[in-house]
Amino acid sequence: MPRHFLRDDDLTPAEQKEVLALALDLTDDRFARRPYAGPRTVAVLFDKSSTRTRVSFATGIAELGGNPLVIESRASQLGRGESIADTTRVLTSMASTIVWRTFGQKRIEEMAAHATVPVVNALTDQFHPCQILADLLTIAQQRGGLADGDAALAGRSLAYLGDGANNMAHSYLLGGATAGMDVRIASPASHRPDDAVLADARAIAQCTGGSVTITDDPAAAVDGVDAVLTDTWVSMGQEGEDGRDEQTFARFQVTDELMAASGDGVFLHCLPAYRGKEVTASVIDGPRSVVWQEAENRLHAQKALLTWLMDHPDENTAVHALPRKEVR
Ligand code: CP
Ligand code: NVA
Repeated sequence: MPRHFLRDDDLTPAEQKEVLALALDLTDDRFARRPYAGPRTVAVLFDKSSTRTRVSFATGIAELGGNPLVIESRASQLGRGESIADTTRVLTSMASTIVWRTFGQKRIEEMAAHATVPVVNALTDQFHPCQILADLLTIAQQRGGLADGDAALAGRSLAYLGDGANNMAHSYLLGGATAGMDVRIASPASHRPDDAVLADARAIAQCTGGSVTITDDPAAAVDGVDAVLTDTWVSMGQEGEDGRDEQTFARFQVTDELMAASGDGVFLHCLPAYRGKEVTASVIDGPRSVVWQEAENRLHAQKALLTWLMDHPDENTAVHALPRKEVR
């Protein structure tokens, strides 16, 4: 059975460290590893728009010696209703890894169930775990937690402000807790994280020494943190939904005042950003913003993840200490 990366907690704390350490190595020497030499093909499918994910996977797979095959689902038979199972059988007979950006988490779980090669989540409605690997790498680089090539994140803190129920919030909870971090989510009560994800994050934090705080007070959330983060108030597929307006989220906009309240925290945003909505231009374009380093780190973190998955071909996927509940 191959290892898949469908959620942030598909890597144990020790494994996440290995991936981040490898990402640090690959940042220094981009062409050090060639797991797809041949070249072997990696299929990268998109059911939704993308700039960073598309470019970083295509570039990274090529740098790993492979052939990136980027497929717009709309232009494939998957987009005309061919089943996930049949599509997966065909892809796994030719490709060495499948990367997919799609809608519901169940869709990528179904693909993984039929795949004989690793399946990687390039964003679903519920999680964006590749982004969190890049963000953890960025925080480690910024906060000096790089002792002996180790992305030493335990005890560091992050505060995410805005839509607490979206894929980024969920992945910060799971990925941050896995890293042993103090994870704080500040959101309106109407947009809190999914209960099942929250329970999983708390259980992971208990094992790693991390912690999880959910609040509707942005100033309290950012107090003394290493990193302040936000994301769009309207994720892909949520356009036109009620309650996604400034009235709901304005208090959670990342401003210079909130950055000052954090102390000396850096600012991250997965991008694309909407200046004047979730963040002011003065913050995202200001001296404490590390968003371009964060975007470049998608390349290094994903190359490390793909290399690590290819290095662990025969392992059971059931690494979770916890039984998973349904995620909304
Ligand atoms: N952050 C991120 O995933 O960007 P894209 O949607 O451009 O891939
Ligand atoms: N929450 C955003 C992330 C984009 C990278 C979305 O899903 O649209």
